[in-house]
Formats: sequence, structure tokens, C-alpha cells
Amino acid sequence: MANSGTSAVCTAIFISILCICYAFGDFVVVSTTSGDVQGYQFETSPSIGSPAFDHIYIFKGIPYAASTSGKLRLRPPQDPTPWEGIRNATRSGEKCAQRPSIYPMQPEAAPLYGEFLGHDNNSTSASEDCLNLNVYTHDVSVLANQPVMVWIHGGGFTSGTGSSYPGEVLAAHHNVVIVTINYRLGDFHSLQTLEEDAPANFGYLDQIKALQWVQANIRNFGGDPEKVTIFGESSGSQSVSLLVMSPLATGLFHRAISQSGVWILPGRQVGDVAATETIASAAGCVTTPYGDMMSCLRGKSAEDILAAGRPGFPLPVVDGHFLMDAPNNLVKKQQLNKVDYLLGTNNDEYGWMLSITRGLYADGMTAAEFQAGLPYYLFFVGLTYPKGNMSVLIPAVIQEYLGSVDKDDLFVVRDQFVQLKNDVGFVASTVLMAETQSAQSVRVYQYEFQHRSSIFPFKPDFVKAEHMDELFYVFGIPLLRQDAAWKLPFTDQERDLSLDIMAYWVNFANNGDPNDFSGAARIRDSADWPRYTPSSKAYMKLNLTSSADVELREKRMKFWNEVVPKLMGEEDITSAAVKVSWGFWGFPILLACFLCNI
Ligand SMILES: *[C@@H]1O[C@H](CO)[C@@H](O)[C@H](O)[C@H]1NC(C)=O
Ligand SMILES: *[C@@H]1O[C@H](CO)[C@@H](O)[C@H](O)[C@H]1NC(C)=O
Ligand SMILES: *[C@@H]1O[C@H](CO)[C@@H](O)[C@H](O)[C@H]1NC(C)=O
Ligand SMILES: *[C@@H]1O[C@H](CO)[C@@H](O)[C@H](O)[C@H]1NC(C)=O
Repeated sequence: MANSGTSAVCTAIFISILCICYAFGDFVVVSTTSGDVQGYQFETSPSIGSPAFDHIYIFKGIPYAASTSGKLRLRPPQDPTPWEGIRNATRSGEKCAQRPSIYPMQPEAAPLYGEFLGHDNNSTSASEDCLNLNVYTHDVSVLANQPVMVWIHGGGFTSGTGSSYPGEVLAAHHNVVIVTINYRLGDFHSLQTLEEDAPANFGYLDQIKALQWVQANIRNFGGDPEKVTIFGESSGSQSVSLLVMSPLATGLFHRAISQSGVWILPGRQVGDVAATETIASAAGCVTTPYGDMMSCLRGKSAEDILAAGRPGFPLPVVDGHFLMDAPNNLVKKQQLNKVDYLLGTNNDEYGWMLSITRGLYADGMTAAEFQAGLPYYLFFVGLTYPKGNMSVLIPAVIQEYLGSVDKDDLFVVRDQFVQLKNDVGFVASTVLMAETQSAQSVRVYQYEFQHRSSIFPFKPDFVKAEHMDELFYVFGIPLLRQDAAWKLPFTDQERDLSLDIMAYWVNFANNGDPNDFSGAARIRDSADWPRYTPSSKAYMKLNLTSSADVELREKRMKFWNEVVPKLMGEEDITSAAVKVSWGFWGFPILLACFLCNI
């Protein structure tokens, strides 16, 4: 009797552990700290090529924090209101309030990028009740212990939404839980207050809140909270680098992936509410006393704030909470979270789309045009070295890029210009981060993505792999089948490249090594990717046929990371942050957007 009673209790406990989630029909219910959520079962094979799992579970629009409107605007994110019963999590949540993108999409490209980034985004409305996330997993058992990958979307910190990025293919091919998150954008992210506990960096605090949700809940979705990788592209990638620098994020993730963007520039000074005052005035609020301004601002609608705001690129704030020092100083002092880091760039980030508004120079570029562009493109370099002299830097840059080429060949000059933007905007900071992080003896892997996709025949011939191009491969878009909701005409070789890249990314998330297939659903015969160390400086060329190499753009990296700091009097940098006020700097910052990804 006693015996069978004990075993019945044990069985009951065991079953209840296994069945925190339960599936009925096409739906599945999982418990979270705020209440139960109902996701749906997605049959993979009709829309995804050669899946490892015939179905996955998808949960959309799970709130991880409360609405940030009204009193909670420009405040740190708070817990969501718990709910009774089962919450329907089958539709994407709202995206965060945002202005229309200032970034023009070429008409030929719009259908292609639009299918991808407009996927789900077009139909989703925007508000300040936007702090929600989506989960994709093939196994919701609490014992599944799958690695977790949390995606931080790009969009210049001013636009975008997590639900645009389909997690279906990664989850259908791999033992991995994919989470895509929203975070506050534009002025809702970047305006400063004088509150002591959290005066700034609201979008980053949201990202941290989402990572706390993952710690508390992801086991119930089949994930291992001890094996969390954050990954992101463009401003999402820069967010990843800032989370690597933030003490608030320590322990919330274990590995990081940055795709095209590492932030090693100064931050803004805390307590600078000039931009907040500007927007308050424009929205019809008094600016003094401070308390009245803030209650008036918090009383306005999201639309009022958007209308009063200005487009621009928000700099992170050295607030003593999220960031203890300017990012460039933190890197110099190696004050970074010790997490494995896979990071890289595309070989032509400015090849086409990011350069459109500044001129494509289809017929080449004169040396005079090259020189005329420099003050814009070196703007942020100037910020990094406040005591440096731009009149010294500019001739040095001209010498570096045009000194040993035929300055009369307009195409050669244009090519040097595009390389310059690529180096200064993306590659130099990525290489510096790889160097710094590998010196902390964590595992670092660097890549350069080189493949120009076959779906872009309309791009000028000189364009190689540009900004955003690797996204298609990381998210397995070439694997989508004819009868998926949408599909793009990739080739079989491109499908293989996508399979390789997805495997590298998930292997890294699982084992800290893109080559290590332990725990993988399937093994691929992919090229070996050597680790970046301070002495190897190895990196992987991701292309239809991938191969390893060393010292990416070695001479140019020495120029930006060793010669320029000396030229600009690096030893003189003592201030933790430069003071950037929007009134004066707004316009240059807007122009410099094209340096920092949209
Ligand atoms: C959840 O929402 C979806 C989409 O609107 C709907 O089809 C489904 O019936 C809803 N489920 C429940 C239990 O209400
Ligand atoms: C989303 O909107 C963009 C821009 O209007 C368009 O190009 C794209 O095709 C749309 N995508 C979908 C999936 O509807
Ligand atoms: C900057 O360098 C230029 C050229 O060498 C020099 O003429 C100028 O005086 C310098 N400015 C400062 C503030 O040192
Ligand atoms: C990438 O591979 C293609 C096709 O094999 C090749 O033509 C191209 O030169 C490679 N890119 C680079 C940068 O090596």
C-alpha cells in the first residue's frame, strides 16, 4: 500500500513536471510567470524544405513587460499585468510606436526585402503597449534543455519589430528555441530624464527585461536558461555589443552574435535633457519646472510625441546603470562580460541601399567628391577623439585610401570610398571587439559574409554582399517552399549556404563553437571555422564555397585601430562621454545615420 501510494505520488509529480504544457489539437498551452499562454502547432513540411521536425510550436505576442504609455513612458519597464485563464498567443503583438522609415527602399528591392521585413510587420499596428516577444520551439518539454537564441532586430533604433523575422525555419531544422523581441524605439527609447534610478537607455532596459523573462520562463518552452545566446543585426547587433558591456546584463546570456555592427563609440552624457525639452516644447508642454514638463509629456499621446520628435540616431547614455563608462573606454579597459562572441560584417555594407541617398556614383567618383564626403563619414570618428584635429585626420585618410591607387580612375576612387565607409562604419569596430574579447580568453569567431544573392539581378554589378544580405541565410529564407506564405527564388547552392550558416550559428549557441555538432538534430559536412585568437586573427569567409583566412583587411585595420588613435591624441581622452545635444548636433547625427546603419 505505502509503496504504491508513494509511487503514485511520484508518478503524479513526474507527470505534472512533464505536463506544465499540454497540447490539444493544433494548440499548445504553456505556463509563464504572468499566466498561461496558448500557442499553435505549425506543420513544417508544406512550407519549409527538409525540416528535421515535422511540427513546431509558435507563441506570438507574449507580453514580457507592461505598456509603457502614460506614467510609465520614459520609465524602466515594469512587469506585465498577470492574467487569469489562458491568453491567446497566436497573433503577433503590437510593434513599438515608430515613425515611418526615413530609409528609402529602391522599387526593385522593395518586393524582396519587403517580403522579408514586411512579413508580419505590415499588418501589425504600433503602440506603446509593445513589449512582447515570440517563441518558436519544436519541443515544449521542461526537460528538453535546448539552447535559446534571442533575436534583437535592427532598424536604426527607430523602426522594426521582432515578429518580422520568421523563427520557423531555424526551429524546424534545429534543437533550438528561438525568441524574437520588441523594444522601445526612437524618442521613446532615447529621451533622457532626471530620475535617478533609470534616467535613460529605455530600449536597452527593455532588452534586459526580455532576457529576464527568458531566465524565468524559457524552461517551460523547452529551453535551457543556462544556455542563452543573444543575436542581432545592424542596430540589433550594436545592442548586442552594448549588452556585452552592461553589468545589468551579466548572467542573463552566455554567448553573443553580432551581425554588422559593434558600438565602440562614445555615449551621451547623463542628465542632458535638452532633447527632452525640445520635444516637450514642440508637443506644446512647458519645459520648467521639470516635474511639470514630465507630467505634460507623459500626458501626451504616442502620436503627439512622434510628431514632435525628429528622426535621428540615438546614442547610448553613460548612465551609471546600464553603461558604467563610454563604450570606447569600456573596450579599452576590457570591462566586458566574459561571453563567447561570434561576430562579423558583410564585404560591401554600403554597396547599394545604405548609399542610395548619398549618391550611388554609378559613373564612378572623382577624388574631389571623395574628399568632400569625408567630413560626414568621419563625424563619429571625431566624436571618439574629442581632442583630435580633423584637419590632421582627413589628409591621413586620403593618403591611406587614395595614396597608392590611380586617383584619375573614377571607379577605383569609388571603390576606395565604399571600402572606407565599410571599414570605418563596420569592420574596424568589429575587429577591435574581436581582439578585445579574445584577449579575455573567451571563444571568439569572426566572419566576413561575401555572397551576393542571385535574387538581386537588378543591383549594379559592382555591388557585393551588402547590409542585411546575410539575414536571408541566417533565417533560412532560401529553405522556404513554393507553398509557404512567401518565397524568394534562391538557388540550391544558396540553400546549402543557408543550411551551413544556420548550423554554424546554432552550434555556436549550443557549444560555443560553430564546428561542434554535439546535440545537433543533424550533422553537416561544413568547412572548418577556426577560432579567432589574439595571435591567429582567423576569420571565416562565408560564401557559396566558404573557407578560412587570417587578418581581415589587415592594413586598413592597423590604420583605424592603431594609427588613427595616435594621430588623434588618444592619450588625451579622459572624459567618459562627450556631450551631444540634439539642437546643434541633430542634423549631423541624422546624416551620420548612414554610417551607423538604418
Ligand atoms: C486565438 O486567436 C486566433 C486568431 O485570431 C483564433 O483563430 C483562435 O480561435 C483564438 N483561440 C482562442 C482559444 O480563442
Ligand atoms: C509590406 O509593405 C512593403 C512596402 O509597402 C511592400 O513592399 C511589401 O511587399 C509588403 N509585404 C507584405 C508581405 O505584404
Ligand atoms: C589642426 O591641424 C591644422 C593642420 O595641421 C593646424 O593648422 C591647426 O592649427 C590645428 N588645430 C588645432 C586646434 O590644433
Ligand atoms: C564568392 O564566391 C563566388 C562564387 O564562387 C566568387 O565569384 C566570388 O569571388 C567569391 N567572393 C569573394 C569575395 O571571394
